[in-house]
Amino acid sequence: MHIIHTISELRQWRAQAGRVAFVPTMGNLHQGHLALVEEAHRRADAVVVSIFVNRLQFGQGEDFDRYPRTLQEDADKLRGAGVAVLFAPDEKELYPRVAQEYNVEPPHLQNELCGRFRPGHFRGVATVVCKLFNIVQPDVACFGKKDYQQLAVIRGMTEDLNMPVEIVPVDTGRAADGLALSSRNAYLSPEERAQAPQLYALLLDMAAQIRGGRQDYAQMEEAAVARLTAQGWEVDYVEVRHGGNLAVAHAGDKHVVVLAAARLGHTRLIDNIEINLDAGFQAA
Ligand code: PAJ
Repeated sequence: MHIIHTISELRQWRAQAGRVAFVPTMGNLHQGHLALVEEAHRRADAVVVSIFVNRLQFGQGEDFDRYPRTLQEDADKLRGAGVAVLFAPDEKELYPRVAQEYNVEPPHLQNELCGRFRPGHFRGVATVVCKLFNIVQPDVACFGKKDYQQLAVIRGMTEDLNMPVEIVPVDTGRAADGLALSSRNAYLSPEERAQAPQLYALLLDMAAQIRGGRQDYAQMEEAAVARLTAQGWEVDYVEVRHGGNLAVAHAGDKHVVVLAAARLGHTRLIDNIEINLDAGFQAA
């Protein structure tokens, strides 16, 4: 595996590579990330993984400074997973000027759901992913459904800006007790970790009710917030949305997703479940 830190070296490697699949990450890799790498292998001759903790997508008071940086362990995992290139630029390499003057501005969706609580986050994500796409020039890029809104923003960006990159969604990897794998799970105390599967349990209950025919989404959302709050969570939102584009869901929609974000202590966790009410439907 090549470990590459500069754009010029990456471009040199790219010039002689065949079909490339790309997995952008912020490192501290877990099994969820490695599932993206596995999918990437199915899609191309060579897999490139980037590790870059992107300051632009962190708000003030968020965890940029304490985000776990574990490059050595990550490199070992990626080598074991047969990755061709680990691209790990430093901040000066990706952001040589003090401010990034040109940015990718997502539409109103960037201010909804997680965006309501993390102003500027999706602009930072879209901008860095656009930069990374321009550097790596992948044929395919894999993104986790765990970050469903991020996936929607990236899909919208590649479509609207005609980027020649196929976006491949990958199912959420979970711990045995259902908790979605996340680098931020490491912030949880043992007690919080034991409590954390309540979030997925709630989503499973809501999904079962929706599959059973419930369509009074506003009431369901209200009850869900009350349940989590009673369990000691500080809830940002629980919402039922249209699958794929994340428009507000209406009764009768056949593809919906229930999304939630809530805090246990200082740790903010997100999760979601996609629900297909049309027999024979294949989630894209
Ligand atoms: P990061 O949180 O490191 O996640 C990198 C990729 O792994 C994303 O596509 C994310 O959705 C996916 N992922 C994380 N946990 C997962 C899980 N449990 N199951 C499946 N996939 C999972 O997302 C980012 O980094 C950044 O925003 C990035 C896209 C790299 C831009 O900076």
